[in-house]
Parts: sequence; C-alpha cells; structure tokens
Amino acid sequence: MAEDRLAIDGGKKAVPKLGPFPTKLGKDELWELLDLFEFSAENRAKLREILDNEPNLKGPHLFRYYNPKPSKVAEAESAMAKLVGVKHCLAVNSCTSALVASYRALGIGAGDEVIVPAYTFFASAATVAACNAVPVIVEMDDSLNIDPKAAERAITRRTKAIVPVHMRGAPAQMDAIMDLAKRKGIAVVEDVAQAGGGSFQGRRLGAIGTMGCFSFDFYKIMVSGEGGFVTTDDEWLYTRAQSWHDTAACWRPDRFARERREGELFCGENYRMSEMEGAVALAQIRRGDEMLAGYRRAKFMIKQNIGKLPGLSFRRLTDEQGDTGIYLVMFLPDVDTTKRATLALQAEGVPAGGIYDSKVRDWHIYRYWEHILEKKPVAADGLPWSAVPESELPKYSPDMCPRTLDLLARSIHVEINHYYSEEDCEAITKGINKVMHALLK
Ligand SMILES: Cc1ncc(COP(=O)(O)O)c(C=O)c1O
Repeated sequence: MAEDRLAIDGGKKAVPKLGPFPTKLGKDELWELLDLFEFSAENRAKLREILDNEPNLKGPHLFRYYNPKPSKVAEAESAMAKLVGVKHCLAVNSCTSALVASYRALGIGAGDEVIVPAYTFFASAATVAACNAVPVIVEMDDSLNIDPKAAERAITRRTKAIVPVHMRGAPAQMDAIMDLAKRKGIAVVEDVAQAGGGSFQGRRLGAIGTMGCFSFDFYKIMVSGEGGFVTTDDEWLYTRAQSWHDTAACWRPDRFARERREGELFCGENYRMSEMEGAVALAQIRRGDEMLAGYRRAKFMIKQNIGKLPGLSFRRLTDEQGDTGIYLVMFLPDVDTTKRATLALQAEGVPAGGIYDSKVRDWHIYRYWEHILEKKPVAADGLPWSAVPESELPKYSPDMCPRTLDLLARSIHVEINHYYSEEDCEAITKGINKVMHALLK
C-alpha cells in the first residue's frame, strides 16, 4: 500500500509537521523578572495588562550558543574587550571561574606555586589551591596592593604566576610587577574584580598582565548579579580558557573536531554565562565610563578638602588617574584611634568602616584563610599540599604578614557613590574633618 511506503523511499511523511509550540520561556518568566524591579502600582498594572494582551509572547533563548538571535553574551564580550583594550575576552559566570580558567589556561597545576597578596578576597588564593597548586601569600604595602619586593623574594623554581589584585578600586604597582615577571619568565594574572575600568599609566587594568579576571557580582563596579570576564591578548591562552570554561568539548568553533594543536583538548568544567547575565552586563559595560567619571568626581571633591593633620595619611595611589575612585582609604597612627575614629565617623553619618579588626573574621584577610594556613585538602589525595615535599611548602602562620595586618588595622575606608551630589561630598568632607580634628589635634 502506498500508505506504507517509507518516506525515505518517496512515501508520505507520517509526521508532516509539528507545532508551532510556545517558546520555553514566555510571559510568566518575564513577569518574574519584572517583579525584581520596583514599579509603581499603576505601572505594574499596566505591565500586567500588556503581558495579558500578548498571549503568544515569544521568550528568549537564554543559551549563548545555537541562539537564533545575536548573543548578548557575545556582545558583552566585544564591549568588554573594547573597554579594556584587549584582543580577546571570555564571559564566565564569576571572577572565581575567571581565575580558575586563567590558571588552567596557563597550565598551572599540582606542584606549581602562585604568588598572591595577603589582602584580597579569599577567591584569588582559593582558586590556586582549587587548581591543585600552592598559594604563596606575600605582604601588601601602603598601596593596599601586593608589594612587588615581597613578591620577588617569594619566587622559587616552582613559581608559575603572580596575582596582583587591584584592591578597593586602585591599581597595583603594575610596572614593577611586569618587570619582575619578565625577568623571571612567569605569568601575571591580574585580579581586577574590585577595579573594573581602572587603569595604570594609561592602560586599563586587565590589559597589562598576561591575563585579566573581572567580577560582575553585585558588589562590584559593573554588575550582572553573578558574572565575570577573562581578558587577554594571547589567542592561545584565550582558546584554552574558553575550552576550560566549557567542558573543553562543547562549543569550540569546530565543535567535534579533533585537537588542532596539542594542549587544546582536556577535561574542563562549565562556567558559561547565560544570556540573562550577558544582557545586564552589556548595559553595565556601556555605562562603565560614565559611572567611573562619577566615582572619580565625587572622590576628588571629598579628598581635596580634607585638612592636613599630623597622623592622618592616605593610601598611596600608584596612579591617581587610574584609580576608579570607589573608596577613599585613610591611615591613622594607631589601632585605638582608628577604631574610635571609625565609630565617630559612622555616628556623623559618614559611610565609613574599618578594614581589619583582629577580633572579626573576614575572608579578605589571609589570617582567616585557615583552609590554606592549615593546609586543608579537599580529598584523600591530599592535594594541593601533597604534590610538594613538606620541607618546600610555604611556612604559613596567622602572623606571617605583620605589615599587612598593621596597615589594615590602621585603615579606614569611606565608600564613594557615583551619584553623590556636591552637597553630599561637602557633608562627608565636613564629617571627616570634624572627627579628625577632634581626635588628632
Ligand atoms: C579581589 C576579588 N577577587 C575575586 C572575587 C570573586 O569574584 P566572584 O564573586 O565574581 O567570584 C572577588 C569578589 O568579591 C574579589 O573581591
């Protein structure tokens, strides 16, 4: 019977057409997203009405690959590459992921050492251990960033990379770090999580080292809830980071191809950014320079009118123009005065805080990284510590970086907001001057 003839032999198709079906995402999902924003009751009702009048709303394809529309993640990568001034940029789901992907791209693994500052969010160091390498913790200096001389002293035959972390918005001493790395033939992975958009001697942070790692988590300058980027000028490192971030198998340009060059195929993880974060990140990157101009303007207005007083000094900026301006950090002569000044500033309404209190646990200070100080392994293989003879492992202790602890215990930070008006800045300066005059005169 003609009915039985297989379609492959010219018969009638058994399934001539399927669908159309609604898209996976539609008005319910959009409504939940809109619910994250605070609309007036009136506009909320209007939005509901619009959605109800759009019964067949076609939702987005939130996966960046195989997307019928141009990908927002890809657009965010291009915008970020342009902002930072690098050839390659890879979007990932966090800076923690960006750091792992970068260390892995550089081939860092068991038996290697990576130098990190004693003051940074734990992720910069934890990711080294997560790659089975040994974090070597060194002192910061009065820039609140890694001390290049301490980094040089810590270099051994196992050192594969140095990680300058641009803490609290201001650049590390990148000329000295790059000079050191060049002399020793080691990589530099810039942790730009806290200083997105900042620069050093005219070059954006993340474009100076071998690789740059950015965070777009909600507490950073440009944000997408969760998110991060890897930047580099090196195509091979980009290729390897891209592979690592995507199981090293999924979405290479030629997806199922065999290895084009040794080192291209290996077992990776999944750090992909979704189109939702990509869209938000794109909007934020476009506003990046405008936000930075606001931070710098406000910080300048506040700082320029703070009176000179004996005992009051400021964090050393390695490049004043390159500072993002998100914090003003001051040093006071001793811990007691610092604590009292912090409370006094807060009482005046100044958005100030201390940075280190020996009685308060804080993941930004090496002292509390007992995961590392006590060499805790994640599995019975004892890695990363078991890959290096005990006598060659760093001698960790809570007091190993006294200069860092001393400087941080005498630091006060003032938060800057890029929306501060002239009056806001004047009031903050007035509050700082009032407290400092009372305590330091
Ligand atoms: C210096 C530094 N590095 C890395 C990270 C980790 O970023 P993420 O939360 O995006 O993983 C942070 C986040 O606080 C950070 O401040």
